[in-house]
Amino acid sequence: MKNYNSAADLVDLAQYPITDLHGQEGYAFAERCRQQYLETGLCALPEFIRPEALEVLVEEANAVSGEAYFCKNVHNAYLTEDNPNLAPDDIARRQEHTYVGSVPYDRIGRDTQLCELYHWDPLKDFIGHVLDKKQFYRFADPLGACSINVFVDGGEHGWHFDESEFTVTLMLQPPESGGIFEYVPMIRGLDNEKEIVTNVLNGDRKNVVELPFSAGTLLIFGGNQTIHRVTRVEGNRPRLVPVLCFAERPDLTNSESVRQLFWGRSGSESESRI
Ligand SMILES: [Fe+2]
Repeated sequence: MKNYNSAADLVDLAQYPITDLHGQEGYAFAERCRQQYLETGLCALPEFIRPEALEVLVEEANAVSGEAYFCKNVHNAYLTEDNPNLAPDDIARRQEHTYVGSVPYDRIGRDTQLCELYHWDPLKDFIGHVLDKKQFYRFADPLGACSINVFVDGGEHGWHFDESEFTVTLMLQPPESGGIFEYVPMIRGLDNEKEIVTNVLNGDRKNVVELPFSAGTLLIFGGNQTIHRVTRVEGNRPRLVPVLCFAERPDLTNSESVRQLFWGRSGSESESRI
């Protein structure tokens, strides 16, 4: 396996000058990304990872994919508890299916290229600029700071809005079939939001956008304004997508119940041994 000295070697900086945030070219580029995010609900940067580096990242992710904890559940599009006071056919009572695995941060080696990239300040600062965050930090969660989503055969993520304002992912390995990221941009809070959500969940494809899985793409996504899903995956090759988490406070973590849900335990291995 080829090794790289710096995270800067992983990224196509000729196409994406993210290390030049205070220079004219880099600033203009980051501003264009911010506009794309504001106008479309996401900023997708295809071939962000250089081809040789992509091979290493894919190899690393496959090596730890067996460490994924799998979570199978049903939820409504708003990820809220079922409300029996609502009419049975209210769209907020419609149950969607999710089956996804996640390799926790403490099972991803600190010496991996993924971890190098996550800990690289220019990436953090660029993402903070796109999201217009004055204070921006890596997430302090021992399991969820940087994890890898694993969709095996039958894996899917039903239609939903995220609880968090934004999500940053890296497309690494497409499945043999399915696993398409679909979304209906920027509908949260619209007067006809409920009508749109009802139509989408009933299979109306009119406003649905498909984001093709293109390995090496960095995606900054405003998931609480945009309803989205990952269609069911088929085949033996898992769909692998690292999730890089950031926050506006340096000490922010998930709650223990969220850790239990996604990784089946509440603390890191070293903590739980104490
Ligand atoms: Fe989501």
